[in-house]
Amino acid sequence: MRKPFIAGNWKMNKTGAEAAVLIRQIREGYKEDAVEVAVCPPFTALRDAREALHGTNIRLGAQNVYHEESGAFTGEVSIPMLQDLGVELVIVGHSERRHIFGESDGLINKKVARVLKSGLVPILCVGETLEQREAGRTRDLVRHQVMEGLKDLTEEEIGKVIIAYEPVWAIGTGRSATAEDANGVIEYIREILGELAGKNRADTIRILYGGSVNKENAASLLGQPHIDGALVGGASLKADQFLGIIRSATGKESV
Ligand code: 13P
Repeated sequence: MRKPFIAGNWKMNKTGAEAAVLIRQIREGYKEDAVEVAVCPPFTALRDAREALHGTNIRLGAQNVYHEESGAFTGEVSIPMLQDLGVELVIVGHSERRHIFGESDGLINKKVARVLKSGLVPILCVGETLEQREAGRTRDLVRHQVMEGLKDLTEEEIGKVIIAYEPVWAIGTGRSATAEDANGVIEYIREILGELAGKNRADTIRILYGGSVNKENAASLLGQPHIDGALVGGASLKADQFLGIIRSATGKESV
């Protein structure tokens, strides 16, 4: 059984006070035990977010992390610092980290490994650019990012990862992948996970879709058999949108 999972990636939005307001609005409308939910505010809002989440089962995630414990790494944040703030999940390898900040597959792999060793859950993001898609390279690219991101991990470790398939051309553009198309790529990712960790384990790993998900298109995306949830950007900043997406995931308990 894969419990549906809806995570909000707030990106570089919301101060601490604004985060508390948004979480309060989400809490008011949130009743779904059948769906696992997380919010990933920026580092500076994590403490306020944690306080605002107190008493709910909504989980707290971060958008990035550095893999070293401490030291001369100006501007970076470590896993123990995140744990100190009650963070349970970390987005790793988001396309904005890859493309704007130049994160390599090697660095992403180190981050995934350390996050797992610390007992946190990585949400590993993969996805092709428009150019790669038009060149017919979607599957090769996704295979490469999954293989490199999970390199040298044990089967057991791989079983703990959440994957987010986020085609770069669908992020923040209002142009979502079609549900069937996203499902096809995600099914292919599950096949790759099967090669790495065995089919039984791969069948338990949650794979999310991300890219212009909103409450209007969520039901059709989440209705697909291989799409286990969503990593939501813009629509996660509006309580009614985010709650609508969570509602669309209710009743979906795959396989
Ligand atoms: P949008 O939902 O704004 O397209 O962003 C998707 C995303 O990047 C989530 O990580």
